[in-house]
Amino acid sequence: MSRLLVVSNRLPVTVSAAQGEAIVTPSMGGLSTGLRGPFERSQGLWIGWPGDLSKLGDAARASALKELQALRTLPVELTADELRQYYEEFANGVLWPVFHYLLDRIPVHSGGWEMYRRVNAKFAAAVAAQYRPGDTIWVHDYQLLLLPGMLRELLPDARIGFFLHIPFPASEVFRMLPWREDVLRGMLGADLIGFHTPSYARNFASAVVRLLGHEPVVDELNVAGRKVRFRAFPMGIDTETFTAEVEPSDESFRPRPGEHLLLGVDRLDYTKGIRRRLSAVERVLQRRPDLRGKLRMLQIAVPSREKVTAYQDYRRRVEEMVGAINGRCSSLTDAPIHYMYRGFPQEQLIELYRAASVMLVTPTRDGMNLVAKEFAAARTDGDGVLVLSEFAGAAEEMPEALQVNPFDVDGMAQAIEQAIDMAEGERRSRMAGLRARVLRFDVHKWTEDFLAALTDVELGAPALPTP
Ligand code: ADP
Ligand code: G6P
Repeated sequence: MSRLLVVSNRLPVTVSAAQGEAIVTPSMGGLSTGLRGPFERSQGLWIGWPGDLSKLGDAARASALKELQALRTLPVELTADELRQYYEEFANGVLWPVFHYLLDRIPVHSGGWEMYRRVNAKFAAAVAAQYRPGDTIWVHDYQLLLLPGMLRELLPDARIGFFLHIPFPASEVFRMLPWREDVLRGMLGADLIGFHTPSYARNFASAVVRLLGHEPVVDELNVAGRKVRFRAFPMGIDTETFTAEVEPSDESFRPRPGEHLLLGVDRLDYTKGIRRRLSAVERVLQRRPDLRGKLRMLQIAVPSREKVTAYQDYRRRVEEMVGAINGRCSSLTDAPIHYMYRGFPQEQLIELYRAASVMLVTPTRDGMNLVAKEFAAARTDGDGVLVLSEFAGAAEEMPEALQVNPFDVDGMAQAIEQAIDMAEGERRSRMAGLRARVLRFDVHKWTEDFLAALTDVELGAPALPTP
C-alpha cells in the first residue's frame, strides 16, 4: 500500500530528559500543531528530529524510541555539532531572518552552509531508506530546502511535494543569499511546491526567472524537461479542536467585570512584533486615562530557539520592556502587562482565546500565523475582535480583522482603542465573516488540496516548452 512520508526538521512530538526519564510532549509551532491532525488520519510515517536524546540513559532511550515508533514517527538524530551549525547557525541564524526581511539580524560571518547541506543529505538518506515505490513524499519548510533536489537524485521516479511554511521574500531580498541558486535548485527537485499566499508564489517565480533563467508558464516550470508546479495553498487549522467545549482549568483566567483583556500568544520570536505591540498598549493607557485599571494585556510567549543569540537578545528586550511599562503604568493593586514565558496546553489556550476581548496578532512578518485563525475558530460565542498585522499571510484571508501596520505604533494604538470601543453588532458581524472562512478552509481541506494537486502531476511527463 502506498504511504505518505511526511518529512520536517522537527517531529510533531519532542523528547526531552527530566531526572533521567524521557518526556514526550507535543511540539510547538504552526507546522506541528497544524499538520498533526491530518497526519493522525493518514497511514503515513513522519520523519524528523525528535529533540536531544543524548542525555537519556539506555532504558529511557529505549522507551522514547518505542513511543516514537508507536506514533508512526521515525527519528533522525542530530549531533550537537550538526544541531548548532545546521539548525541554529544556518536555518535559524541566516535563512529565518532573510526570509522574514530582517536583514540586520544576519551575522557578518554566516556559517553553517556546509553542515546545512550535510544534514539535508542525512535526511535524504533516511527518507530513501524508508521509501517504497508508490509512496508520496511531502517535505516541509526552510530547514530542508535542499532535500527535494537530493531526493530527486536518489529517487528519480518518486512523487515529491514541498511546502514552505514561512514567507518567500521578494527576489531583491532573496538574491542576497550567497547560496541562492543552490537553494532554488534544491526546491525545484519537487513536483509541486506550495506557499501560503499567491504573493510568496510570485516572489518565488521571479527569483527562479532572475537567478536560473527558467520562465514559468502560469504556475508551471520546465526544469530540465521535468514539470514542476508551484502555487498558493493557504494553510488552515484543525477547527474541531478549537471549536470544542473545554473544561475550565485550575488556572482559569476570568476578567473582572468591566475589564478588557488584550491577548498575545506567540513563540518568543523577533518576527512576532511583541515589543511594538506592548508599546502600542502603553500608548493606549497614556491616551485613555479612563481605561487605566480596566485594561489588562496578557502576553504568553512560548520559549523558542533559546540557544540562538538573536532570540536571547530579543527575550531580554521584551522582558525589560514589560518591566519598564509596568513600572510606569502600575497602581498599588494592578499591573497592566501580565507576561508569561512558557507553553500552555491547548485547552487552556482555547479558554484564553474565549476570555479575550481583543486578540493582538502583530508580527512584522509571518508566513501565515495560525494563532489568528485559532482565535477566530475558538470564538463559538461569535464575539471578540482580532487586530491583525497586514504582514501576516493570514491577512489575505481575514479582511474582517482590524488590519494594522505593525511598524506604525500609533496606528496600532488607535486600532486597539477602536477594538475596545467597537459596538457589539460590528464585532459580531466581523467575527462571523472571519469564522465562516476559517471553518470552511480547515487544515484537512488544505492537506487534501495539496495532496490532490501533487497526485495530479504526471510523473515523468514532459513539461510545456518554455517560450
Ligand atoms: P509559528 O509557526 O511561527 O510559531 P503560528 O501562529 O503559525 O506561528 O503557530 C503557532 C502555534 O503554536 C499555534 O498553533 C499556537 O497555538 C501554538 N502556540 C503559540 N504559543 C503557545 C504557547 N504559549 N503555548 C502553547 N502553544 C502555543
Ligand atoms: C515555525 C516554523 C517551523 C518550526 C516552528 C517551531 O512554525 O515554520 O518549521 O518547527 O516554527 O520552531 P522550532 O525551531 O522550535 O522547530
